[in-house]
Amino acid sequence: MEERLPGLKAELGVGFCVVNAENTADGAGLTPRLAERLLAAGADVLTLGNHVWRRKEIGPYLDTAERVVRPANLASDSPGRGLVVVEAEDGTPVAVLNLQGLLFMATPVGPFEVVDALVAEAREAAKVVLVDFHAEATSEKVALSRELDGLVTAVVGTHTHVQTSDARVQPGGTAAITDAGMTGAHDAVIGVKAELAIHRMRTGMGVRFEPASGGVRIEGALIECDADGRALSCEPVRVPVP
Ligand SMILES: [Fe+2]
Repeated sequence: MEERLPGLKAELGVGFCVVNAENTADGAGLTPRLAERLLAAGADVLTLGNHVWRRKEIGPYLDTAERVVRPANLASDSPGRGLVVVEAEDGTPVAVLNLQGLLFMATPVGPFEVVDALVAEAREAAKVVLVDFHAEATSEKVALSRELDGLVTAVVGTHTHVQTSDARVQPGGTAAITDAGMTGAHDAVIGVKAELAIHRMRTGMGVRFEPASGGVRIEGALIECDADGRALSCEPVRVPVP
């Protein structure tokens, strides 16, 4: 990301870049040092997910970080915040919201229980609103995208590490993709050395996962919107990194 992100942003004309960073630290979690490096490399906001607490030093950092969000629907005493507002390159305020899915995940509060109030708060602060919905089930991600159609600029799914082929602008003007995919090694089992993941599945025995290194790609979604925050286009991004 440090090598390729600045050039890629220029090539694609990106004025605001959101990176899901939950597995930046050796494949599990995020450290404050790596967060700062990603922000310095050109990310405007970092989002997180179910691995948010894998590195204990992230808790105090999240309390002070103004450009890093964790899922808003975690336990009520969790450090950090689930919504931030950060200016894009041209000065436009952009609200970024992070939510975690309930299906097949250990999530303390259902996303649909909190989303209305959060979206209202985000819309008070900014016309451009991006939701990173970090969830396992395609049904839940599509449902939230539809529920928010016309209310936010984009609902971008993360977590599965596999990019889906459904990048679209919905009828109400909200861009959506069920999963933006993974930036990392794709000659792997969702980023993990394949032999380790297969060993665990064949034997049921615990094995320490290690990140793979082959077939590296930056994946994501490129969303264009107007000044009112209405999405105009949504395209998958899939860029090999030599
Ligand atoms: Fe995740």
